[in-house]
Amino acid sequence: MQNTKILVFGRIGQVGWELRHKLACLGEVAAIDYPEIDFSKSDSIRAVVRAAEPTVILNAAAYTAVDKAESDPDLAMAINGTAPGVIAEEAKRLGSLLVHYSTDYVFDGTKQAPYVEIDAPHPINVYGRTKLAGDQAIQAVGGDYLILRTSWVYGARGSNFLLTMLRLAQERSELQIVDDQIGAPTSSECIAQATASILAQLLAPAGGGIDGRSGIYNLTTTGETSWFGFAKALLIKSSRTFDFTVPDLIPIKTSDFPRPAKRPANSRLSCQRLEQTFGVTLPHWEDALSLVLDTLTEGSSSVSPKT
Ligand SMILES: NC(=O)c1ccc[n+]([C@@H]2O[C@H](COP(=O)([O-])OP(=O)(O)OC[C@H]3O[C@@H](n4cnc5c(N)ncnc54)[C@H](OP(=O)(O)O)[C@@H]3O)[C@@H](O)[C@H]2O)c1
Repeated sequence: MQNTKILVFGRIGQVGWELRHKLACLGEVAAIDYPEIDFSKSDSIRAVVRAAEPTVILNAAAYTAVDKAESDPDLAMAINGTAPGVIAEEAKRLGSLLVHYSTDYVFDGTKQAPYVEIDAPHPINVYGRTKLAGDQAIQAVGGDYLILRTSWVYGARGSNFLLTMLRLAQERSELQIVDDQIGAPTSSECIAQATASILAQLLAPAGGGIDGRSGIYNLTTTGETSWFGFAKALLIKSSRTFDFTVPDLIPIKTSDFPRPAKRPANSRLSCQRLEQTFGVTLPHWEDALSLVLDTLTEGSSSVSPKT
């Protein structure tokens, strides 16, 4: 693994940031972000990959502003739909493995059970359509790849639901939160840790490389909740450490909180394929939440700890 060159796209994003740290024991990690690379320009991607000559490329860069994408579909498609195909071509040319992140938003959320990898995608918003286009572009190139579909990503840094709730809890006495969308909040740390476990297997001398295991894998924490349930858990847990009173929490319906992009009601993803293929299982979402809150307590948050 000593000569393994790992290239991470999305260096300052939630997942990219964690990857950079969790993968350091697997090889030489180079991480890059906009504007050093611009996913809306194919030449920019090709030049970076050709200069780096990586063994593994991890693509955690994406246009993730789900509502903004509704009025910016061309840029969202360039970054989420076209760029992954270009990366896949370059990876194939070098014989590199591409690890790419995708989303529960490729589904419409009408299934009454967790989605499996072979369920037919049917996105209901621009972001989901562009991410699906990216998955399909990678598959069409046909190199060595893993598409890891995750959901409800949050962490101790970046722009996410947990940090928004902690901020709002300090500003308001009442919070209304959607209670009819269900999924598994998945921390960026868990995603990076699981990715590192998979790569450690593939890169080990006796690991046999990807060897027929290219494909789509769902990768989320276990258990399920609603946004309301997630907010309640994170506010109660964090109020024990940080200096605020938990506001009154009011469950509401999606229809009471209209937004530009539609959201799937069911975001649950079955992770059996990941477990069976790589023996990797993520923790329960509440345990992962506790770990992220510990990280915040250790000082990387703008929230004031109790003195
Ligand atoms: N967030 C979620 O809830 C969620 C849910 C399911 C799946 N996912 C997927 O998980 C992956 C990681 O998501 P995340 O939440 O870590 O994303 P994130 O925090 O929004 O980070 C995205 C990264 O992409 C970079 N980027 C944006 N436009 C770019 C461009 N034109 N050229 C190059 N880089 C560009 C951003 O750089 P700048 O900051 O400089 O713009 C940022 O570093 C993505 O594939 C996402 O679709 C996310």
